[in-house]
Amino acid sequence: MADQNGNGNPADDDRYVLEDDGSSVADIEHEMELAAKEAAEATDKGQDPTLRAENADLRDRYLRTLADFENYRKRADREKQDFYKYALADTLRDDLGLTGTKIACNEGHCGACTVLVDGMPVLSCITLVHALDGASVTTIEGLRDHPMLQAFVRADALQCGFCTPGQIVSAIALVEASAEPSSDEIRHAMAGNLCRCGAYPKIEEAIQTWRD
Ligand code: FES
Ligand code: FES
Repeated sequence: MADQNGNGNPADDDRYVLEDDGSSVADIEHEMELAAKEAAEATDKGQDPTLRAENADLRDRYLRTLADFENYRKRADREKQDFYKYALADTLRDDLGLTGTKIACNEGHCGACTVLVDGMPVLSCITLVHALDGASVTTIEGLRDHPMLQAFVRADALQCGFCTPGQIVSAIALVEASAEPSSDEIRHAMAGNLCRCGAYPKIEEAIQTWRD
């Protein structure tokens, strides 16, 4: 996962630029100051800047700016630490916006965060980004056209769905290695993916019927 500089570090120019709209911190701080000033002026005039219809733009801008600032702060906090210590799951979700990968235990016990690294299922919450230089990472987003997704839907193999992306990623890794796995093979391969809703029989059915 090297960057365009080829060294795995965030490009210097990107460090303080939000990914969503390219606003710099200075832009955001300026926008916040402006919005706060306008809100104060509205309050001085006896208007409620958060409720009056004519101030809807101001309110929206203020809220949007606060959200941008919060995103920036989180990103900047992370960057103050060592980028190389970041887990793949956090990088996928927070830096790349690939939120299909879920984090549940964040300790390598549940399988919710499973992604493929060079085709092998890997727990992204305990995989450090720096270990992946040059590797191919496939998340649930990259597997959305795989027939396994429809098999899970057909078999009704989920309840709350939180574990489902990880289950599907592991299931795909299994059938790509062995297209018609036995029950024992399925249970063995899927043992690291926990489902608190207990959808295991349906998950097994989905994997057995993925090509139907
Ligand atoms: S969130 Fe990664 S194993 Fe549980
Ligand atoms: S469907 Fe709810 S945890 Fe698996």
